[in-house]
Amino acid sequence: MSVDILNKFKEDQLEKKKDIPTDRKFRVGIIGTGWIAQSHILNYKKMPDVEIVAGADLIPGKAKAFFEEYGVPDALCFESHTELLNSVELDAVSVCTYNATHAECTIDALKKGVNVMLEKPMCVTLEEAVEIFKAEKESGKLLSIGFQPRFDPNMKKIKEIVESGVLGKIYYIQTGGGRRRGIPTPYGTSFIEKETGGIGALGDIGCYSLDMVLNAIGYPKPLTVTGYTSDYFGKRPNYYKNHPEYAEVFGVDDFAAGFVRLEGDIILDFRISWAMNMDTSGDTLILGTEGGLRIPSTECWNGSVGGPMKIYHEVAGSQVETEIPVIESKEDLFYLKLRSFLDAIRDGGPSPVPSSQIIINQAIIDGIAKSAALGREIEINIPEI
Ligand SMILES: NC(=O)c1ccc[n+]([C@@H]2O[C@H](COP(=O)([O-])OP(=O)(O)OC[C@H]3O[C@@H](n4cnc5c(N)ncnc54)[C@H](O)[C@@H]3O)[C@@H](O)[C@H]2O)c1
Repeated sequence: MSVDILNKFKEDQLEKKKDIPTDRKFRVGIIGTGWIAQSHILNYKKMPDVEIVAGADLIPGKAKAFFEEYGVPDALCFESHTELLNSVELDAVSVCTYNATHAECTIDALKKGVNVMLEKPMCVTLEEAVEIFKAEKESGKLLSIGFQPRFDPNMKKIKEIVESGVLGKIYYIQTGGGRRRGIPTPYGTSFIEKETGGIGALGDIGCYSLDMVLNAIGYPKPLTVTGYTSDYFGKRPNYYKNHPEYAEVFGVDDFAAGFVRLEGDIILDFRISWAMNMDTSGDTLILGTEGGLRIPSTECWNGSVGGPMKIYHEVAGSQVETEIPVIESKEDLFYLKLRSFLDAIRDGGPSPVPSSQIIINQAIIDGIAKSAALGREIEINIPEI
């Protein structure tokens, strides 16, 4: 994508209408009432200016049972997102479906004039991300992508450190995250089947690592990528203690790596794992001409800082380290993610986690998957819209 389109998009963001009067509640719906939908309903329920009016799930009876369990028995329930969008007037919707239906649900909601909180990852392919981006632009509605780590003060600190200039010019970043054994199957196989998950660890938790560093450095444009993916663990029947049959439907990656050239002469070295024979795929390292930042990894990667960060730099000729203590916060990141979305609708934007940034995250994920399939380096081209 040329920088042009991003700039155009920024102008559009400023033009978003304030279409919710301050004297009435937001009429909110939830599409997909599975695992993550719980955090959406529980947090919307904490907000006095929100009325949860409807929901949909493809599985008959699932939406009804969900709303009853979470104390919203009067919510109207549907068995597809289209039925919901055609039947109920909404101000906003949370798209909490599995990855493979993120794009269609988001595009259909935007086309109906509904603001969208879309769970991460943005979608499965770059082509889908482009269609989402177009639909958002045409609708003038607000879209925010569900990266709750953005609201973690430790994550904000990474961006503040980079922007302070203390690291100098950034030229190399190593990032990613590892789980020794952490293929997500707590409620079945929606993460691991190709038809529903679409992508594995690469998109599911890789999107967090990419956002952590790319947001800090201002989301430069990706140029080329060499990608690798594998599935050595997911396809093993004995991986799943109680469900050996899951191995047969495993159709995504459980490990991925990529070497990405970014605009501004920056190298991004990335690896991510749902399962591997190692405890960690390494800390995140941001190397700059004046300092280096080490961000400790977590044992089970979920997009948080694993301990005090350290800046390695030189003071009056001495090589020194400055520790950045972990910032404790009692705020619920999932609450902040939803609250910031609704506040942005009421204020007329900008989106707290905009698609103009996350399309770049998706382009890298897509580039790694496509390069891995081809077995060679490829260019990343985000098309003009
Ligand atoms: N932000 C986070 O920390 C976090 C945590 C877990 C999951 N997630 C994301 O949330 C999404 C959902 O994950 P999950 O664990 O809740 O999955 P899930 O499989 O438990 O639930 C998804 C539900 O969506 C429904 N669905 C799919 N397409 C639909 C459609 N067109 N209309 C109506 N319903 C539809 C499915 O029937 C299913 O019940 C994934 O993209 C995942 O990456 C985010």
